[in-house]
Amino acid sequence: MKDRVLSGMQASGKLHLGNLVGALQNWVRLQEQYDCYYFVADWHALTTGYAHPQGIRESTRDLLLNFLAAGLDPEKCTIFIQSKLSEHAELHLLLSMITPLGWLERVPTYKEKIQELKERDLSTYGFLGYPLLQTADIIIYRAKYVPVGVDQVPHLEISREIARRFNNLYREVFPEPEALLTEFPKVPGVDGRKMSKSYDNAIYLSDTPDVVEQKLRTMMTDPARKRRTDIGDPELSPVYQLHKIFSSKEEQEYVAQGCRTAGIGCIDCKKILIKNVSRIMEPIWKRREELIKNPDTVTEIVRKGTEKARKATEETMSLVREAMGLS
Ligand code: TRP
Repeated sequence: MKDRVLSGMQASGKLHLGNLVGALQNWVRLQEQYDCYYFVADWHALTTGYAHPQGIRESTRDLLLNFLAAGLDPEKCTIFIQSKLSEHAELHLLLSMITPLGWLERVPTYKEKIQELKERDLSTYGFLGYPLLQTADIIIYRAKYVPVGVDQVPHLEISREIARRFNNLYREVFPEPEALLTEFPKVPGVDGRKMSKSYDNAIYLSDTPDVVEQKLRTMMTDPARKRRTDIGDPELSPVYQLHKIFSSKEEQEYVAQGCRTAGIGCIDCKKILIKNVSRIMEPIWKRREELIKNPDTVTEIVRKGTEKARKATEETMSLVREAMGLS
């Protein structure tokens, strides 16, 4: 029996290169070794986006296409959509009975996010419960590992506490999930800040080759290097940060040296990056195109994934109902 891994992505935007390098490529690697469950968290998108739900459908579709295009293989892992498994919601409700409010209020991302999204009213029950819903997502599969970024560690900590509390109050049903932390490089966007849909600086997997080329060609470099003859510092150039992720060691040395000595221009440097980013994206574009032409394939994969996930959720829920006096 392989250990079980579970992870999800919120359906609030299109997938970009940062998500690919930071999460999705890791998911693809993990499916070789673990019993992996991967899903689109569409309910989570409502916690902050409840006032404008129009984008959720489109985002869910984009995520699923990219999961498959990037190499998730339905023969090796289980792919589904959160809202199709109402058992997650039932467990969320039951866990809400035993979760002290203070635990939720104390999660650092709670207050941070409210500050960050001041224009939205997030004084809602659903938003406070974000990590609780996430807990239900994880422990309903009795998953052992959850691949996440460091920013998600506080969420995982509360999941462990809730699992422990349930087990202590009733009986051992849930293993405590562990974070599977993966070190991955920070991916800068075209303006040098962290790549993010909210900064409008992202390169999306759904961008056409022309758009990717155009975004990279006009990407920010070392601001001190204004003219071709000015020397630059590659470490100050986000283009060089991308080279570190996508280019060979030789190419990295070549462009760094060329930048420091004004031996090459920024366009020359970017051309190499464009070539390398395109090489990574080409198979993804190709598979995306094929899947877009065959939407029934995607529907069928998700239907099967949902069915398989339901076996696991049903089994856990009967234990939970019984433990809580509901059977
Ligand atoms: N919070 C995750 C994100 O921002 C989505 C998510 C929901 C998740 N439930 C999860 C991740 C369970 C891992 C495990 O994309």
